[in-house]
Amino acid sequence: MLKEKIKELAKAYKEEVIATRRHLHANPELSYVEFKTAAFVKERLEELGITQIEQKATTGWSALIEGKNPGKKVIALRADMDALPIIEANDVPYKSQNPGVMHACGHDAHTASLLGAAKILNEVKDQFEGTIKLIFQPGEEVAPGGASFMIKDGVLENPRPAGIIGQHVMPFIPAGKVGFRQGLYMASADELYITVKGKGGHGAMPETLIDPVLIASHLIVALQQVVSRAASPKIPSVLSFGRVEALGATNVIPNEVKIQGTFRTLNEEWRAKAHQKMLQIAHGIVEGMGGELDFEIRKGYPFLQNDPELTARATEAARAYLGDENVLDLDIWMAAEDFAYYSQVVDGCFYRLGTRNEARGIVSGVHTPTFDIDEDALEIGAGLMAWLAVAELEKA
Ligand code: NI
Repeated sequence: MLKEKIKELAKAYKEEVIATRRHLHANPELSYVEFKTAAFVKERLEELGITQIEQKATTGWSALIEGKNPGKKVIALRADMDALPIIEANDVPYKSQNPGVMHACGHDAHTASLLGAAKILNEVKDQFEGTIKLIFQPGEEVAPGGASFMIKDGVLENPRPAGIIGQHVMPFIPAGKVGFRQGLYMASADELYITVKGKGGHGAMPETLIDPVLIASHLIVALQQVVSRAASPKIPSVLSFGRVEALGATNVIPNEVKIQGTFRTLNEEWRAKAHQKMLQIAHGIVEGMGGELDFEIRKGYPFLQNDPELTARATEAARAYLGDENVLDLDIWMAAEDFAYYSQVVDGCFYRLGTRNEARGIVSGVHTPTFDIDEDALEIGAGLMAWLAVAELEKA
């Protein structure tokens, strides 16, 4: 049976996938400059004898593995390749050799897993019908998102996949387990840049000033009513401000205050309305208090929707591969992910690969200097991805 064959190959290639991950981890590159990573990926694909490789979005690739009857159905598998501007704090043999850059979101594991899956799939291509499209993309971490460039560059055409599957490491789920969610899964994320301009001066003479610190304070509080009063309780929304900059002193009121924040939600209509509501409240408060407002909303990734049917089939296939007890149901997560762009064009399924190992102290969250993964999870990372693609091709 093909499932058993794939499991066997995943086990046989586990050490190779780990070595690939370690190579990538030691040589991380930032978003949109993944030149060495991309060259490495292409070389590995060519070694496998894969010839239909196309460059996309400068540092991305799409590649085809054709089974029997390749026109029957196409399923895409996606990995992201970029790292983060973080100084690695782990003392491991595969520690980042590129100071200040670190694979702290597991994209090294995603790329290594997809290369492993490619090797497995290429080896069993006479045992399935249809085509598998491999997508290696740059720039997941930085807006507007590498996925948007890949799509503009035609990665979802010629041939167009019926569905796309992506996986992401999850340090809150133990290695050996995976997680799925049907329907709404991750949030849209917009960046908020606000400048409140007033008139600074001596703190002892408030009657001569327009105090932007006081205006900004009111503004931050008032904007929360977008979430508490204007949002439907049925639509998750988050508004957070992480930076407030007023460069005065105990007795100096500055001329302006800068505020930065993020707005996240899971509904495009409400997202647009919320933007209008925030602008309206901000103008009312700031101008009503005599100040001037500059409010820029930079739109980030859209929300991520997992196609219910594709995800139900993938979940079922994962249960068959790993056992029911190792397949978890995920909750909504208000982080953003540029896989969302693909899921707006074709049916998508974005699932989580557990990488936590408490006994070995592997518990740090993504985007932290101590993030690491339990590499034993890579056997599933490669094998399950290969199996999910094949299982989906087998269904209709
Ligand atoms: Ni990530």
